Amino acid sequence: MMQIDEARALDRDDPFADTARLFDLPQGVIYLDGNSLGPPPRPALDALARAAQMEWGHDLIASWNTADWMGLPLRTGARIARLIGVDAASVIAGDSVSVNLFKLAAGLVMGGAKGVAVERGDFPTDGYVMEGLARLSGTPFALIEPGTGVAGLPDHVDVLVRSAVHYKTAAKVDIAAEEREAARLGKTIIWDLSHGAGLVDLKLERDGAKYAVGCGYKYLNGGPGAPAFIYCHRDVVEHFAQPLSGWMGHASPFSFKDGYAPAKGVTRFGAGTPAILSMSTLHGALAVFDGVDMAGVEAKARALGDTFLAAIEPLGLACVSPPSAQRAGHVSLVHEHGYAIVQALIAQGVIGDFREPDIMRFGFAPLYLTHEAVFEAGTRLVDIVRSSAYRDARFAKRNAVT
Ligand SMILES: Cc1ncc(COP(=O)(O)O)c(C=O)c1O
Repeated sequence: MMQIDEARALDRDDPFADTARLFDLPQGVIYLDGNSLGPPPRPALDALARAAQMEWGHDLIASWNTADWMGLPLRTGARIARLIGVDAASVIAGDSVSVNLFKLAAGLVMGGAKGVAVERGDFPTDGYVMEGLARLSGTPFALIEPGTGVAGLPDHVDVLVRSAVHYKTAAKVDIAAEEREAARLGKTIIWDLSHGAGLVDLKLERDGAKYAVGCGYKYLNGGPGAPAFIYCHRDVVEHFAQPLSGWMGHASPFSFKDGYAPAKGVTRFGAGTPAILSMSTLHGALAVFDGVDMAGVEAKARALGDTFLAAIEPLGLACVSPPSAQRAGHVSLVHEHGYAIVQALIAQGVIGDFREPDIMRFGFAPLYLTHEAVFEAGTRLVDIVRSSAYRDARFAKRNAVT
């Protein structure tokens, strides 16, 4: 069985000791929920303060030009682009994953694609938005079996929305293999990178992916409700018509012309005025990734997950996450009292989360976590389960957000 000394030894040559100093987590907290809401890196808070006080407070409306607020969605997109392995000009930040999925899928349907699908059990918003698009456009909607990917699409469905990393299990999809299969079958995939961006060493362009969306508030640490992003490959973007054709995606928003003409490149995915304070925060947050090797980030996430699993091994809990070679950033364990156990852990400063019906999720963001802390979190989980401390009535009360 693993001992704390082994965890400490793993920390001795941690390549991310410097990035940990950029995060100011509360004393005594072991934060294992960066897969749901990343904590604030200092450069994010600095950028937020600058944008609020100087740019907005002092320079007022001039900041659209002087602080290049107009260019912020693309500048933020360029920082994300490196993390997902695509051309810097092919990503734009803005809106939410749900809205961005609609823009991409509806654009494909408007361009002649027939039918949209998601895998059963994938993140619900992806399916809900596709259902809405199907109702609006009359295109078919299909829920296909989990894990079948494009091969599971019925003949009359061309577009699959698929998470690159599953939100419950953290299972990673082989994007290159899926794209090869999609090319063979004449299907199109829109990747949801919400649980991959900022954690997995994604190489979307190399792997043949043309369309993707992702979250700004998980591993990218952009803050609650941070803008999401859209990636659209340069080979297809100039012919891509997106349906939320607002003025911020217009070729010349300040000429106030009647009639829509799309901007060049991914700027056309703009719709309304960007949320500048949130976007500035996200842009600042992304600075922590400067010079960071994403292969190293992914490897450390898996190693942290293994340390946690080793620490809790005596409990013999079922784990719905795959072994580390196919796993991304979190580990999901099954327990019928999972909700209460997570609450009991939170009371001790170990923050994870719970997903219905019985899944306890623990995320291992490599930029600020140590093996020692993760081992300690695992030890506390063992204590709570063994001592039945979670049976205390205060841990049964359900909050709106789990
Ligand atoms: C895979 C996945 N997609 C989408 C979302 C939600 O996206 P948004 O709230 O930005 O629409 C989440 C949130 O947890 C997620 O895990």
